[in-house]
Amino acid sequence: MKALKIILSIFVMGLIFGGCAYNWILEEEAVDPTDPDAPEVSFSAQIVPIFSSKCITCHSTGGQSPDLTSDNAYSSINSSRYINTSDPASSLIYTKPMGSHSQTYSTAEAALVLTWITQGAQNN
Ligand code: HEC
Repeated sequence: MKALKIILSIFVMGLIFGGCAYNWILEEEAVDPTDPDAPEVSFSAQIVPIFSSKCITCHSTGGQSPDLTSDNAYSSINSSRYINTSDPASSLIYTKPMGSHSQTYSTAEAALVLTWITQGAQNN
C-alpha cells in the first residue's frame, strides 16, 4: 500500500511538473511554420503590427515600395513579387528583411510571417 502511494505521488508530480514544462515551452517557442496544426496567424492582428513598428518609417504611402502602412499593406504585398504560396520561404516579404536589410525580423516575427504565407497569405 505504501509503495502504491509513492508510485502514485511520483506520477502526480510528474503530471504537475511535466505540465508546467510543457506550458513554458509553448510560451517561449516561436510558432512553427511547418506545423499543419499551428494556430492561424492573423494578418491584421499579428503581421501588420510588425510592419508598423519596424518598417513604415521607410515603407510609407508614397515612400519606398511596398507601402506597408496598415491600410495598404495587404494590397501592396498581395502579388507574386512579394508572396509565393507554393514556396513560402522564397517570398520577398519574408526573405528581404532577413539578411542585411535596414530592418530585420526577429526570429519570432520571421516565423509568424512564414507561417502566415504558408497558411495561404490571407487578408485575415
Ligand atoms: C531605413 C529604411 C527601411 C526600413 C526601416 C525598411 N526598409 Fe525595406 N527597403 C528599403 C529600401 C531603401 C528598399 C529598396 C532597396 C532594396 O531593395 O534594398 C527596400 C526594399 C524592401 C523590399 C523589396 C522591395 C522590392 O519590390 O524589391 C521589401 C520586401 C522590404 N524592403 C521589406 C521591408 C520590411 C518588411 C521592413 C520591416 C521589417 C523593411 N523593409 C524596413 C528601406 C527600408
